[in-house]
Amino acid sequence: MIEHSPLSASPTSPLMEEGIVVATLAPVMPPSLREVARSAGGRRELSPKVTEGVGHQNNTQRRNPMEYTEKVMDHFKSPRNVGEIDGASGTGTVGNAKCGDIMKFDLKVENGIITDAKFKTFGCGAAVATSSMATEMIIGKTVQEALAVTNKAVMDALGGLPAVKVHCSCLAEEAIHRALWDYAQRNGIIIEGLKEPSDSDEV
Ligand code: FES
Repeated sequence: MIEHSPLSASPTSPLMEEGIVVATLAPVMPPSLREVARSAGGRRELSPKVTEGVGHQNNTQRRNPMEYTEKVMDHFKSPRNVGEIDGASGTGTVGNAKCGDIMKFDLKVENGIITDAKFKTFGCGAAVATSSMATEMIIGKTVQEALAVTNKAVMDALGGLPAVKVHCSCLAEEAIHRALWDYAQRNGIIIEGLKEPSDSDEV
């Protein structure tokens, strides 16, 4: 049975329709998004505290280390661009071996412009929020410009993340890079500054 925390997406959201559970702490890295979402059991609910949209760099010291900004909560509760793209130009999937969270990005690229981006994330609230924000930040950008959408840029756009959640934003950056690499490989092009992802990389 699929459960979701009071802070997760509503039962009618795309996430729930896709059978993806959010706000979970997965104990192991599963083989696929769907399989894990269906088999997940025994999880802890997040109880984040919400703050005003405080800046990541200037207010970290004053903030409760586990507080989330309103922007984080907004993207967590109402994630944008959830799903998959039929005939995607590039796809990137990454996981974190320690927390077991997994993220998949699909990109649609037309004439060098990212015209659509969608994601599926089996992970914590911060991973969902950073995925959502990252898709909004890369849509409309060139593939070269998308490289500049780093995990720090996403965190700043969200008003910051608790220090222990910074690694969640790295998943989004890595998933985008992998999707861009996939796009470049399929089309035989080089995206300056984009390094080949390594299977041994741990996000
Ligand atoms: Fe693993 Fe957030 S706890 S991505």
